[in-house]
Amino acid sequence: MGKQINYFLRYPGGKRRLLVFLQDHLPSSESIKGRYIEPFVGSGAVFFYVGPQKALLSDANPELIDIYRGIRYSPKSVWKAYEKFGSTKKDYKQVRDHKREENVIGRAARMLFLNRTCFKGMWRHNREGKFNVGYGGQSRRWVITEEDLLAVSKRLRKAKIECGDFETIIEDASKDDFLFLDPPYKPHEQEYTNSHYGWQQFRFEDHQRLAKALKQAKRRGVKWAMTTSTHPKILGLFRGFYAVKIPKGTGSLPGIMTKNSGEVLISSYKTEGSTKL
Ligand SMILES: C[S@@+](CC[C@H](N)C(=O)[O-])C[C@H]1O[C@@H](n2cnc3c(N)ncnc32)[C@H](O)[C@@H]1O
Repeated sequence: MGKQINYFLRYPGGKRRLLVFLQDHLPSSESIKGRYIEPFVGSGAVFFYVGPQKALLSDANPELIDIYRGIRYSPKSVWKAYEKFGSTKKDYKQVRDHKREENVIGRAARMLFLNRTCFKGMWRHNREGKFNVGYGGQSRRWVITEEDLLAVSKRLRKAKIECGDFETIIEDASKDDFLFLDPPYKPHEQEYTNSHYGWQQFRFEDHQRLAKALKQAKRRGVKWAMTTSTHPKILGLFRGFYAVKIPKGTGSLPGIMTKNSGEVLISSYKTEGSTKL
């Protein structure tokens, strides 16, 4: 595992609180011979935790990818721009509602600011594709520092960063690569549909596409592990693979478990406690 990073993004569905569980089921960075690939990277909780030497990170959310690209090459400039935003609700609304087509540094700073000051770190858009989350306050804004962005940038330089659908990313994986996947899902459910914006939806057909791509990857010798819902129709897509139920772990209270979290880790390899589906 790499040196711990201060998580710089707030992200709904982020796997930070499940790291306590995941650490026993994922390969260490040293044992990954090829690349660590994450096609639904979100806030990158698992990527930063594993700390791989070589990675491919991707997500369908273009504004999120702007943050990564901006910080990867120019952490200091992003920080400078981030610092300059005002600190009132009016300032927040001004930044949120008057999106300017700036360069990647400006876009990264703007989205980082909105992420750190919006309500509960939500990521929601209206039908015109405009970010429309309400104001959440300044209390989480200065929890991150310039040093954090520098540390994140250092890690990101070991990664290629893409924006788009998961399928092409999975197709790119070859023997020796390791894939970690965390698609949008609702525990116990078969679909994730409660939003207006394309990349936040995940329909059963997407799970089917995902299963097909992962079966092909396995045939090429790629190892993979994925968190997903325990809905029987989803589990049914992965017959013959391994699964272990995810207990509800919390970062500060490891070992506290509920029997029915509605989430499962499915993998192409046997991990501790897993059984064949
Ligand atoms: C559950 S979140 C991942 C959270 C991440 N593991 C973390 O710890 O922060 C799922 C991610 O999938 C992305 N996504 C949704 N549909 C996608 C698609 N078709 N291809 C690639 N990414 C997609 C969303 O933008 C979101 O960032």
